[in-house]
Amino acid sequence: MTHYFSLKFPLHVAALAVGLLGGCASQPEVEPETPADQTVDPAVAPAEAEAPTEATTAEEAPPEAWSADLSKEQKAAFMKAKVVPAMAPLFQNADPEAYADFGCQTCHGPEGKLPKEYLPELTLKDGKLTAFAEDPDTAKFMAEHVTPTMAGVLGMPPYDPATHTGFGCGGCHSIAMQ
Ligand code: HEC
Ligand code: HEC
Repeated sequence: MTHYFSLKFPLHVAALAVGLLGGCASQPEVEPETPADQTVDPAVAPAEAEAPTEATTAEEAPPEAWSADLSKEQKAAFMKAKVVPAMAPLFQNADPEAYADFGCQTCHGPEGKLPKEYLPELTLKDGKLTAFAEDPDTAKFMAEHVTPTMAGVLGMPPYDPATHTGFGCGGCHSIAMQ
């Protein structure tokens, strides 16, 4: 499948993830009796003070880069700010009517499941995805547009069949081996 991924993606600089720590800047004031030179470990900061800070941060400033370590709120904020704006035009160009209200539900379903649990399962047979024979137009669209764009947005390398690493069809669909 390597040839489907001929585009080059900017690998988001991991350092951008440092922006996520911005929330710490608005950490609650250090208690007056704490010596000035003592650093406060966020892990021991009061939980009730931390939670609202995190939620506010996710709402106000979506993370610059995707990471598996983001909180669910941060992931949702990233999806809203980066994934939907990048993906909606692709689907809408392909079929303006069907995807007029493209959004979270297009990939997550009405119940907000993980895409792998919601989207149709693909089948791998004799080392090939059967979708390329059964539904070539959709499979090609997915391979040439959807997958590389999503990989780029998530800052992941495209799937490499040799090492089984990177972002491919299996990033959104579950894949059954036959
Ligand atoms: C183009 C498809 C697509 C769209 C549109 C999309 N997502 Fe996602 N979303 C994904 C994929 C794929 C993952 C899993 C990424 C991974 O491997 O961790 C994901 C993961 C998530 C997660 C993390 C789930 C977890 O349990 O870790 C959240 C939360 C989320 N999306 C929220 C949203 C919201 C909110 C929207 C709409 C604003 C949205 N997504 C739109 C594809 C999509
Ligand atoms: C970023 C997420 C994402 C990735 C990556 C992705 N797909 Fe999809 N795929 C979707 C979504 C969303 C739909 C459903 C569109 C709809 O509801 O009309 C879909 C639908 C399909 C369908 C139609 C299934 C059916 O029964 O209607 C096929 C076939 C398909 N994808 C194949 C692939 C293949 C092959 C790859 C890898 C080259 C791939 N997809 C990668 C999101 C993705």
